[in-house]
Amino acid sequence: MADSNPSPAAPAPNRTLRRPSWPIIGALLLILVPIVISIVVNDPNGFDPAPLPADYSFSASLAVAERHDRILASSKRVGEGRLPGPEDLAYDKARGFLYTGCSDGWIRRVSLKDEKMEVEDWAYVGGRPLGVALGPGGDLVVAESNNGLMIVKPDQSVAMLTDEADGLMFRLTDGVDVASDGLIYFTDASYKFNLDTHILDILEGRPHGRLMSFDSSTNQTSVLLRDLYFANGVSLSPDQRFLIFCETT
Ligand SMILES: *[C@@H]1O[C@H](CO)[C@@H](O)[C@H](O)[C@H]1NC(C)=O
Repeated sequence: MADSNPSPAAPAPNRTLRRPSWPIIGALLLILVPIVISIVVNDPNGFDPAPLPADYSFSASLAVAERHDRILASSKRVGEGRLPGPEDLAYDKARGFLYTGCSDGWIRRVSLKDEKMEVEDWAYVGGRPLGVALGPGGDLVVAESNNGLMIVKPDQSVAMLTDEADGLMFRLTDGVDVASDGLIYFTDASYKFNLDTHILDILEGRPHGRLMSFDSSTNQTSVLLRDLYFANGVSLSPDQRFLIFCETT
């Protein structure tokens, strides 16, 4: 807090107004302009696009093995107008709740126990929660893109888990899944660009993404894979024998 009993402002010193001295300003510009240009050109965080590989080809389309159009016919709309930007879903089957992270920083919970399908402002994590996944104890792990990996306990308290690994801060924590043994797997899409500038990461075409794990019993963050191209969603196989992740680009 500021001093509650401030002393009166000191009297202003007498100043003589002088005209700017053009030779001095010219000399300053002569020194400063090259410095500014070299900072912009050599900025380690500046835009540095990679050339396309020589053998790169644009594939026209992907074949889809099967289509099940009737699935949409038996689906229901959930939380219409109440869930802005539901990037990921976590379903607590035992308790009948669906969780999602919204673009206004709220984790919202939809009750699927009855026809009303009530939507609840469940926990405010701030920033832009992207990935959500339920842990064994009913904890909700959240990949919050701006700050890192967070946890919301069943009592709705929010805590930070990790925001850096191997000395590199996360800039775009993105996808998350939790194994049945409680180990958390998650991605940071980029250590260079954040969500606001993520298009530069994609345009630059260099690998700033990482796949990592977080062990809550030791608070240890481990890098499993580095040099990934915009590491995004993560999912463990139902039998826990392997993990799938995607690189957006
Ligand atoms: C992990 O971090 C939390 C929060 O800082 C702390 O309360 C807990 O004691 C830590 N656990 C270990 C095993 O270091």
